[in-house]
Amino acid sequence: MSLRLPLTSCRLFAYASTVGRAKKLKRHFTSSSFSSVRNATASVSTDFPIIPGLEDQMVGYIFGRRKATDVAHSVWKHVLREGDAAVDATCGNGHDTSALVKLVAGESARGRVYGMDIQEGALQSTSCFLRQSLSPQEMELVKLFPMCHSKLAEIVPEDALVRLVAFNLGYLPGGDKAITTRSETTLLALEAAGSIIEPGGLISTVVYVGHPNGREEFETVQAFASGLSTEDWVCCKLQMLNRPLAPVLIFTFKR
Ligand SMILES: C[S@@+](CC[C@H](N)C(=O)[O-])C[C@H]1O[C@@H](n2cnc3c(N)ncnc32)[C@H](O)[C@@H]1O
Repeated sequence: MSLRLPLTSCRLFAYASTVGRAKKLKRHFTSSSFSSVRNATASVSTDFPIIPGLEDQMVGYIFGRRKATDVAHSVWKHVLREGDAAVDATCGNGHDTSALVKLVAGESARGRVYGMDIQEGALQSTSCFLRQSLSPQEMELVKLFPMCHSKLAEIVPEDALVRLVAFNLGYLPGGDKAITTRSETTLLALEAAGSIIEPGGLISTVVYVGHPNGREEFETVQAFASGLSTEDWVCCKLQMLNRPLAPVLIFTFKR
């Protein structure tokens, strides 16, 4: 069923975690930088380092000079390592897919990115952007699937160690605004992401509240993150309080 767009298989990486849980969480974010969705502070250190680059992106976002996706990409940099597997659950025009490939490929061009979108046009646009932005070796690391992200667990091989699943919700920029992500399938996809993500990994979500289903979808994502156990997850959001239509970032880190 899955149309595999341009790409072929390659080595899967072996992720040997030598870093303890606390260390993994420490590199993720500063505790003062995000508002906690739920009380997740019990076992979380308060001395997280300020991450160079991320702080600039966040301040830029807060003052309207950076996009929410710039902040997300910056957080990804501190989660993904060369050789990791990642999923782009909403490929759209391919900008997030390309960023993910760059992060997992590194110099050795290993790693793997699985991308999906329900619109063929979006996947064509993604393919086109990937051809412009990636090397032929990096292109080999991507597989694209024209399917709903609620089925994402079906396309990722069982032995793939997935460290990041990215959602950039809403409609395709430049496309049909009536075709958007929807709460019901987004929730199924988040649950599927939670079931495949490795310890130390991240589900990264950018939610757009300005379109008709956006507010409801935001509530759904927020409720999902709020309901995750503090034992296994650290969940937070970045939301502009007096710009109610600004996109909201919700990060769920697996301990
Ligand atoms: C905001 S765009 C994504 C932007 C993209 N990540 C980029 O970097 O250009 C949202 C995308 O989600 C796709 N989409 C909507 N419902 C979906 C679903 N159930 N499963 C997968 N993709 C979906 C839309 O077709 C649209 O292309």
